[in-house]
Amino acid sequence: MLILAAVIFALVAVLVIYGIVRYRARDGAALPTQIFGSRKAEITWTVIPIVIVTVLFVFTVRTMAFVDAPREPADQPDVTITGHQWWWEARYANGAVAVQEIHIPVGRRLLARIEAADVIHDFWVPQLARKMDAVPGRSGYIWLEANAPGTYEGRCSEFCGMQHAWMHFTVIAEPEPQFSAWLQRQAEPPREPEAGLPVVGGRLFREEKCTDCHAVSATDTQPRKGPPLAHIAGRKLLGGDIPNSPANLARWTVNPQSIKPGNRMPNQRLSNADTLALTAYLESLR
Ligand code: CUA
Repeated sequence: MLILAAVIFALVAVLVIYGIVRYRARDGAALPTQIFGSRKAEITWTVIPIVIVTVLFVFTVRTMAFVDAPREPADQPDVTITGHQWWWEARYANGAVAVQEIHIPVGRRLLARIEAADVIHDFWVPQLARKMDAVPGRSGYIWLEANAPGTYEGRCSEFCGMQHAWMHFTVIAEPEPQFSAWLQRQAEPPREPEAGLPVVGGRLFREEKCTDCHAVSATDTQPRKGPPLAHIAGRKLLGGDIPNSPANLARWTVNPQSIKPGNRMPNQRLSNADTLALTAYLESLR
């Protein structure tokens, strides 16, 4: 399209310049011949654009058929990506769940279903795929594919509330063996702690009703308000906004609104001792 447009632009520019120079006003020169109505010219400048637009249309339709995932695919998606205020959740066919970090294999396209849990979001990884709105109660499908390994930045591209600007995520493309290993690991439930502070924290986690909003086991697929925490110690915190350290986990647990104002996590008013235990428990979830 760009090449065609460039050729047309060049042609028109040359003709305009030629006309300006060739027919410019000169001392003593008569007015150039004036032409009124020309069937030949009319037909020419109607037919040529029709041909050009038709060619572009055919190429566009072909490209769309290749680029767009089917609207209602017969197959189950490889991954279902759900937008929440304000994080992205990716659920894979084998039960693996990822938060904010979506892994894909290099050179193989995944069929991704895009959904929303609360308000409208928009899933966008500029380097990998087209945009797709995430609309509550509806599903959109896109192909997610990378030709080279790497980390690709994604953005929520539909205003969705206070933290919209920070609703970013990453897509990590890695060779097939690494991808399968990751997928396998991610589907496994984390090891429950056996002794010490993490055990106390685990008990608190259940008593304080953290489980109402957060799943811990990878096999727990019940939809919840908050992100699953199955492998929280091994991933980035808030999509990398703050380093994943015990201190930051504690800060978040004590007063989540101080870190990300407007988020849905309530302040549980935990004592220092409880915070320490909870943090130790979360740190054990790898
Ligand atoms: Cu989600 Cu903007």
